[in-house]
Amino acid sequence: MERRPKLTVVGSYNTDLTVRAPRIPVGGETILGGPFQSGPGGKGANQAVAAARLGADVTMLVKLGSDPFGDQAAENLARENIRCDYVLRSAESHTGVAFIVVDDAGENMIVVAAGANNLLSPADIDRAREAITSADLVVFQLEVPVETVTHAARLARQAGVRVLLNPAPGRKLDRDLLEQVDILTPNETEAALISGLPVTNVREAEAAGKKLLEEGVRAVVLTLGSNGALVVTPQGSQHVPGRRVKVVDTTGAGDAFSAALAVRLAEGKDLAEAVRFANLTAALQVTRFGTAQAMPSRQEVEAFLG
Ligand code: RIB
Repeated sequence: MERRPKLTVVGSYNTDLTVRAPRIPVGGETILGGPFQSGPGGKGANQAVAAARLGADVTMLVKLGSDPFGDQAAENLARENIRCDYVLRSAESHTGVAFIVVDDAGENMIVVAAGANNLLSPADIDRAREAITSADLVVFQLEVPVETVTHAARLARQAGVRVLLNPAPGRKLDRDLLEQVDILTPNETEAALISGLPVTNVREAEAAGKKLLEEGVRAVVLTLGSNGALVVTPQGSQHVPGRRVKVVDTTGAGDAFSAALAVRLAEGKDLAEAVRFANLTAALQVTRFGTAQAMPSRQEVEAFLG
């Protein structure tokens, strides 16, 4: 039997409180919506759950509050067969929470109260060193402090472990972090923010990708929503089209994509093949309402591959 790829996810957990509404309200406005759903979320946890459902052996480094949401979070991660040795608890803040509104077109608006996610520290990473250095690949996002991400990414790189960074939520990043990154998976907005260049079409996306290579990243996989993804490496660029589906909720699509990409790369596949698999995983995920709960299984993605 093939060995399952070992992934470590360093990142956030949020309890997602999601309301469907006919449209996203504007400032000062109250509108009636529903249905409502609460469940596991946070970019880190979404990626950990997706990777586990796709067959990886996943360890998660995360900090939760010592509150009922934290208890539920720990149970949810364990139920997904995620190794929880480094699921830390803090009495100093609450478990992360995300308030999400999803409109009838499947688009969303999200506000995150990061809480304990903000307390994941470089010292926590040092205590979890073995989980980073023994992985095939380590996956990061930006819902925990950027110093922590940089510290952990450096540790992985020094140990010869590949680093995938999903730079969400978008923010400017120092070269110090970008130089640790093997695969960067920004969407168009994030790519524009980090590169400082406009990204409104595939040609501009390629220019932004090349700029990010100059900043020290080894490969950029720029997600283009329903148009798939653009791979930019020193060897050249390749557009990998996505599959059109009936969109229910786009929340967590980027998480599904990054997790699937990480799993296939850790299984030894090349970037183009991994991106095709990631496109399909994200396409399936957006046909369902929710975030972590909407992540597809390996069997579902393989059936969809046809
Ligand atoms: O990427 C989707 C995630 O963003 C949600 O689960 C929410 O928690 C926010 O972190």
